[in-house]
Amino acid sequence: MARIQIEGLGKQFGATTAVDAVDLTVEDGEFVALLGPSGCGKTTLLRMLAGLSAPSAGRILLNGTDITHASPKDRDLAMVFQSYALYPHLTVAGNLSYPLRSSRVPRARVAEQVAAVAEQLALTPFLSRRPKELSGGQRQRVAVGRAMVRNPAAFLMDEPLSNLDAKLRTATRTELAALHRRLGATFVYVTHDQVEAMTMASRIVVMDGGRVEQVGTPEEVYDSPASVFVATFLGAPPMNVLPATVTSADGRVRADGDGIRAELWPGQTPPHEVVVGVRPEHLVRRGPDGVDAGILLDARVEAVENLGSEEVAQCRVGDTPVAVRGPRPLRLAVGDQVSLTCSLADLHLFDATTRRRLRWVDEPAERTVAVG
Ligand SMILES: Nc1ncnc2c1ncn2[C@@H]1O[C@H](COP(=O)(O)OP(=O)(O)OP(=O)(O)O)[C@@H](O)[C@H]1O
Ligand SMILES: [Mg+2]
Repeated sequence: MARIQIEGLGKQFGATTAVDAVDLTVEDGEFVALLGPSGCGKTTLLRMLAGLSAPSAGRILLNGTDITHASPKDRDLAMVFQSYALYPHLTVAGNLSYPLRSSRVPRARVAEQVAAVAEQLALTPFLSRRPKELSGGQRQRVAVGRAMVRNPAAFLMDEPLSNLDAKLRTATRTELAALHRRLGATFVYVTHDQVEAMTMASRIVVMDGGRVEQVGTPEEVYDSPASVFVATFLGAPPMNVLPATVTSADGRVRADGDGIRAELWPGQTPPHEVVVGVRPEHLVRRGPDGVDAGILLDARVEAVENLGSEEVAQCRVGDTPVAVRGPRPLRLAVGDQVSLTCSLADLHLFDATTRRRLRWVDEPAERTVAVG
């Protein structure tokens, strides 16, 4: 088993803070994805877990034991890299058995383990081939297999699918998720691909600039993003965000901005600068076939993109670009001036200064709204 606790972990490269005071607990058997843009510190964090890079601050505990300074081979954690790093002169069997032979496991036991892993990863027909005689997906499976033969308590994977083409990536994604269920081992998986994180992980750690922005299930990070950064990192197109001011008038809280008017809920508030967020799939045209809520965006349609089953209308509200996504046809045409609306439950509010999610004291738990 592998329960990994990370406490105040930091890594400094000269003046660059690659990882900044990260706290995180990965429970035994979890599939945790580290998700974030290029340069946010994902690889650095994973390398510190693997023991390939020494932390500048903080501790790492494995099942309660401090392993911050333990050598990689004493950690019972196997790392799978983005570049498969296979030995080109060894066959698939040779590559798979390498980690065992180098740790003096008896010959018969090695053969048994290699056969079992090859079977699980559908590599049996390729055991005598060399890496250059394999497809990208097969090479990737050998790299995963090489981590599996040691039967580690946890797998640390750094963008293992990024060298595969789109179709193979989807297939391998499904295989990896199934492998995780079968092995019941702990997985820490680095990716900058939100689809990989959303589809495979039991929890997602969203990182930015070396820091953890939010930790949550895929549903939590998508449905209740903790910050504007998380809101606009996830989703395709990402969440629309518009500046507005929240005030109260006649006992009702409201939000107003350039091209946006929203009646929120009964209550009082001093004026507050906010960012209003709404996902493209939650916006509909106001009117006979749309929801009629107390939120209105005055939008001008600038482009309509056909995605096959769906369409995306790229609009502008004031100076802010706003996307609308829905089943095709959306019945929006370039040049249209339309009123867009959404259910109050689908509206997100963030503080304009801290960029963190806001919840008002008098905000109803289940938001409902009267038509304005
Ligand atoms: N050996 C190093 N020396 C100096 N700076 C480094 C070193 N390794 C990483 N960095 C810096 O630390 C930061 C984090 O890098 P890291 O490789 O962890 O990012 P990442 O999230 O894995 O990005 P990517 O998605 O591009 O792989 C970056 O600013 C990077 O330039
Ligand atoms: Mg990286």
